[in-house]
Amino acid sequence: MRPFGRIRKREDSANKDNRNLINQQVPDHIAIIMDGNGRWAKARGLPRIAGHHSGMLAMRDVVRACDDLGIKYLTLYSFSTENWKRPRQEIEYLWRLVDEFFALDILELVERNVRITILGDTTELPNATQATVNRALQMTASNTGLRLQFALNYGSRKEILEGVQSIARMVAEGSLRLEEINEEVFSHSLATKGIPDPDLLIRTSGDQRISNFLLWQIAYTELYFVEEMWPEFKRRHLEDAIHAYNARERRFGGLK
Ligand code: FPP
Repeated sequence: MRPFGRIRKREDSANKDNRNLINQQVPDHIAIIMDGNGRWAKARGLPRIAGHHSGMLAMRDVVRACDDLGIKYLTLYSFSTENWKRPRQEIEYLWRLVDEFFALDILELVERNVRITILGDTTELPNATQATVNRALQMTASNTGLRLQFALNYGSRKEILEGVQSIARMVAEGSLRLEEINEEVFSHSLATKGIPDPDLLIRTSGDQRISNFLLWQIAYTELYFVEEMWPEFKRRHLEDAIHAYNARERRFGGLK
């Protein structure tokens, strides 16, 4: 964590917006479960996809806010391995939304020095979406600012099982001994290898569950649940979450 006062800020407006975070520590890594798009839409008599569209707009603002605040890593749960159970039209719309976001926002993200990476298996996405995503990865590969990770077709249990398989393979091949398997080796077998564990996990919509997201990585993460539906989640809610995070005492199982 770094003192907020010393972080890089990109826009003058960010200075104004971030006034109430002065003397606060910003977490290095924030992970977000962006939940409640459907309920937000239903409450307004709108189709679910309208909720997802508003969710994409909220996501754009939160990415900008995290960059302005100097957050190093932002991981967004965008499509889970379980989300394939949804109606085909909704899933197709979500891929179109991914296409739209990357088409409209990629230049700004490049300009902001954001590096985009993906957790999850993108080979199951439509070809056009894979191409858009791959282009975004390539265009931002050498950027050194905010690391923006989209969990797309991601499920933590699947990630863990694949990690177990890769370790078992190494043991079977003789390149790793059973006694050498430790937390570090296992962490390295996951899609998040090289990324520090989240400091703060935010979930919107009032539901208090993890839904197969980063199960290994959140062992000591501070959990923060808010009632707002994801399309309602604004920069000030993010700042509230950071305030709450600052008020917590992290002991990692030890004593103060
Ligand atoms: C959960 O709300 C939200 C999702 C499954 C999709 C989230 C996606 C976005 C915010 C935009 C994605 C865009 C990009 C570029 C990655 P829900 O539909 O489960 O809401 P509900 O629980 O109220 O039904």
